[in-house]
Amino acid sequence: MCWQTEAESRIREILDCRDVCLTSNATTALFALIKGDGIKRVILPVNICFSVPFAVRTGGAEVEFVDVNPENGLMDVCHLQNTVIDAKTALIVPHLYGKTANTFEEIITWAEENNVMVVEDIAQCFGGHFRSEYLGSFGAFAIASFGKGKNIDFGFGGALISNRSSLGKIRAELQSLPRLSGNSLEEKERLERTYTRGHYHNQSLVWFQQFYRRLQKTRTVFLNDISGFPLNGGVDFHGIEKRNSERHDLGAKIRGLLKQRFENIYVEEAPDTGVWWRVRLVIPDLTRHDLVLSTLIQKGIKVSKLYGAVTRLFNGDEQYPGHEKFYRESLFVDIIEENLDRLVRWN
Ligand SMILES: Cc1ncc(COP(=O)(O)O)c(C=O)c1O
Repeated sequence: MCWQTEAESRIREILDCRDVCLTSNATTALFALIKGDGIKRVILPVNICFSVPFAVRTGGAEVEFVDVNPENGLMDVCHLQNTVIDAKTALIVPHLYGKTANTFEEIITWAEENNVMVVEDIAQCFGGHFRSEYLGSFGAFAIASFGKGKNIDFGFGGALISNRSSLGKIRAELQSLPRLSGNSLEEKERLERTYTRGHYHNQSLVWFQQFYRRLQKTRTVFLNDISGFPLNGGVDFHGIEKRNSERHDLGAKIRGLLKQRFENIYVEEAPDTGVWWRVRLVIPDLTRHDLVLSTLIQKGIKVSKLYGAVTRLFNGDEQYPGHEKFYRESLFVDIIEENLDRLVRWN
């Protein structure tokens, strides 16, 4: 069995799903799904990685944003009440910061009752659980990411997961995407660097808009090239429980250190999915916000806050009060090993 088939069948086994297709990243997985399945309208929360609405629009579907809960930045079923539902409508449900979407069961029921297809975004929580089932097994489809800093980090790569039918048509869509030529790993790393820079806070909205326009023009994130998988990390999905538990410990450690360092700042509790991705700091006193941010950045610690920019990029001045509050108060420290080193030396 070739490594690709082996990896796909291993993921299929873990998630107990119908079909899996490895992709160059989660963005490409979503793009191929939108195009291949002919989805025309997508409802998604405003607090999400910019690549998600980007993939939806570029795939040819209309985006409808809904607000999020100000307490944890996630979607609630109440946000779906006034959405417009057309014939081919999908709902993207992300599970972020180690949390399952709020009222997840009600969201699934709402989608069933309204004939809306659920796509779970498990980019941040591969191997996480909800009521002892794996996340990604509840919707019709799910997208996963194995990019830098994710709990399974091949440096690149993603997957499209189907709980409904075989991915034949979508595989054909992926086959039609370009492949990289030459030293593809080097090129991929260059792309990755450019791409992930967009995730960090010290980039202005202007820079982000320029970056986004460049992405639109080149569409380089949409590739049918997954050769980075075995080169970067081997096909090891076997240690997923162990890996998630290691990340969990690392998250708890980072959380403890931040609590010591920044008194009176609320550091969010352990995740309910069992997978850490980012430690959230809640800083309601805005005068202290910049101080904390610049201290972390000066220490070379990766801090992210950019999801807030998605709203402004796609909606101009449209207001989402829940998200505004969440965005203003939150800072995220990414869990990657190098961060821990720095924090340890710092204390
Ligand atoms: C919630 C979420 N969705 C989608 C993505 C996009 O993943 P990828 O970089 O593999 O395309 C990310 C990346 O960070 C993410 O955090």
